[in-house]
Amino acid sequence: MPLVNERELLLPALKERRAVGAFNANNMEMVQAFIWAAEETSKEIGRPVDLIIQLSPGASKYAGWALGAGMVKIAASETDVRVALNLDHATEVDQVKKALDMGFTAVLFDGSALPFEENVKLTRQVVEMCHQKGVPVEAELGKIPKIEDYFSPAEIANLRKLPAPEAVQAIRAKAGKSVEELMAKPEDVEYFVSKTGCDFLAAAFGSIHGIWDDIWPVRVDRLVAIQNRTSLPLVSHGSSGILMAPKDAREKGIKLAKGEGTLLDAIQTGGVTKVNVATILSISFIEGFVKAYQANPSEKDFRKLGGPARDRVKEKTKEYIRLFAGLA
Ligand code: G3H
Ligand code: ZN
Repeated sequence: MPLVNERELLLPALKERRAVGAFNANNMEMVQAFIWAAEETSKEIGRPVDLIIQLSPGASKYAGWALGAGMVKIAASETDVRVALNLDHATEVDQVKKALDMGFTAVLFDGSALPFEENVKLTRQVVEMCHQKGVPVEAELGKIPKIEDYFSPAEIANLRKLPAPEAVQAIRAKAGKSVEELMAKPEDVEYFVSKTGCDFLAAAFGSIHGIWDDIWPVRVDRLVAIQNRTSLPLVSHGSSGILMAPKDAREKGIKLAKGEGTLLDAIQTGGVTKVNVATILSISFIEGFVKAYQANPSEKDFRKLGGPARDRVKEKTKEYIRLFAGLA
């Protein structure tokens, strides 16, 4: 079917206290993997699974804006899964204009690097531009940092070798205070939402972009305080690193401090309705490709490597979709 407006996916999800996965694609195989994951899970659970496919400005540049968006549109037209196409983390008005020209059905404008009032002003401008075309806008309040803001690539590689509780402790020691300070302030929510006119709110609640081992607890207490100030769907960013469910915290030996929780808690009690996942899917593709190549280093047929990479992305995507459907 044709692409659907993201509002049509998120407003019912909000009412039903479930989340829609928003997965970042970088190539054809990833687009297929997301759609197949949604189709297969939908059969498994016996009800439709909606899907948001996201292209960042970087991914759009990599694929070419028309080819990137065109690929998602065609893939959507060939499935019964309802698919919205979101521009992820646009930081410039020109990127938003391109997305509107290409038929994206949602936009995240990320003004979080700007001073507060400039973020409000520019987001408002983007909202007016998008609403003229009926396209909803996600806006960012507070800041969701990247793991690279705190650790060098070599340190990140070392972190990954540590047992999960030690990795969490090391991240807390170096980044914890800063991540906490960057969280959205509940008292800013009503002003920010009413001044910008945004449709969905990516409010920082303690997650970090680019951790890929689902080990990091988030501040569900802050999320609840934010949710109490707005009726908009809330969005989780940096979700590859967030602990998926309370049972994972137990299994991984990670103690949750007071007010902390998992992705599942964020959905069930914090009003999170859209969950953005990128890093772990990119890594899944790379790992699938490399593993297939290592198994047969004389392979010359790209499809024999791209296929397993695509399967690995599909399986990882299904884990998230199952969690959002309350099955994990
Ligand atoms: O906007 C994209 C997401 O916030 C993805 O974050 O790469 O940490 O999963 P992640
Ligand atoms: Zn993000």
